[in-house]
Amino acid sequence: MVGTQMLAALPGGATLATSRNAHDGWLMLDLADLAQRSQAAALLDSYDLNAVYCVGGMTNVDGCEAQPELAQRVNARGPGVLAGYAHRRRLPFVYFSTEYVFDGSEGDPGPYIETSRPNPLSVYGKSKLEGEQRVLASHPDALVLRTTVVYGPDPGQKNYVYSLLRSLSAGNVMRVPEDQISTPTYNRDLIHATLGLVAASARGIFHVCGPERMGRLEFAQRVAQRLGLDGSLLVGVSTAALLQTAPRPLQAGLAIQKLLRLHPDLRMRTVAEGLEDCAAEILAATVR
Ligand SMILES: NC(=O)c1ccc[n+]([C@@H]2O[C@H](COP(=O)([O-])OP(=O)(O)OC[C@H]3O[C@@H](n4cnc5c(N)ncnc54)[C@H](OP(=O)(O)O)[C@@H]3O)[C@@H](O)[C@H]2O)c1
Repeated sequence: MVGTQMLAALPGGATLATSRNAHDGWLMLDLADLAQRSQAAALLDSYDLNAVYCVGGMTNVDGCEAQPELAQRVNARGPGVLAGYAHRRRLPFVYFSTEYVFDGSEGDPGPYIETSRPNPLSVYGKSKLEGEQRVLASHPDALVLRTTVVYGPDPGQKNYVYSLLRSLSAGNVMRVPEDQISTPTYNRDLIHATLGLVAASARGIFHVCGPERMGRLEFAQRVAQRLGLDGSLLVGVSTAALLQTAPRPLQAGLAIQKLLRLHPDLRMRTVAEGLEDCAAEILAATVR
């Protein structure tokens, strides 16, 4: 989801996209298999690059619990190796991380700032925290961007807005965790902010997300309302009732003061503004 928006935002024809699967014109790169810098060199040395964006990752939070070793290779070891390669070539490197590096506990709730103490609860969160550490250790000038609940236009129609649209327009009840509090992020703003940080040669950890902290139920209700869906089909439940494999941070969310201090004119849109930008596009493109 983030990667396709990144490709849309970068100058057409000037981007070298990679995938673990074969795609026309794309380079094959499986982060799980990237163990040595020489592998990255064999793949990338012949290309004239000016930045590396590590957007790929094992993002299935529950799936990571079942395959912790694979999650570590994809989310931590591979990005660390790639960052080391970028450092050797003096290229900016961006690693996308997550609010799930925090525990969202009542005793230490969000919104978190960049220096807040990480304490991941899940294999996914642990692998991403290790990824951050490996990336910064092998490329001290790298950018680590933590984001959360990314929504917006997505050709793969994978994100939460699309799940809501499909379920609610089919008349299905959707159970939504009302105790997961976060700061939803419009994907186009995430990309815009990312490119701005790279242009400003920013380094280190930045939180990049929307400006409002809200529960998943409220977010789902706002989406339903904006897309003209039947919000009465949304049923608020506790996270515990969903019996998900991986524990989730509940009282979470990220704060973006550091980002806004560097870029005071940056517009990270509210959910209403983000949906205003993309609702018509999403409704027109969605296969229900
Ligand atoms: N979406 C969010 O709300 C959110 C929140 C916080 C952080 N993030 C972070 O943002 C980044 C992008 O997330 P996203 O929402 O765009 O996730 P996504 O839609 O699931 O995209 C992840 C991409 O990574 C690829 N991938 C998976 N395993 C790989 C491997 N072994 N080697 C190379 N590529 C692999 C996937 O390829 P396939 O298509 O082959 O599966 C997919 O294209 C991730 O690093 C994620 O941790 C996202």
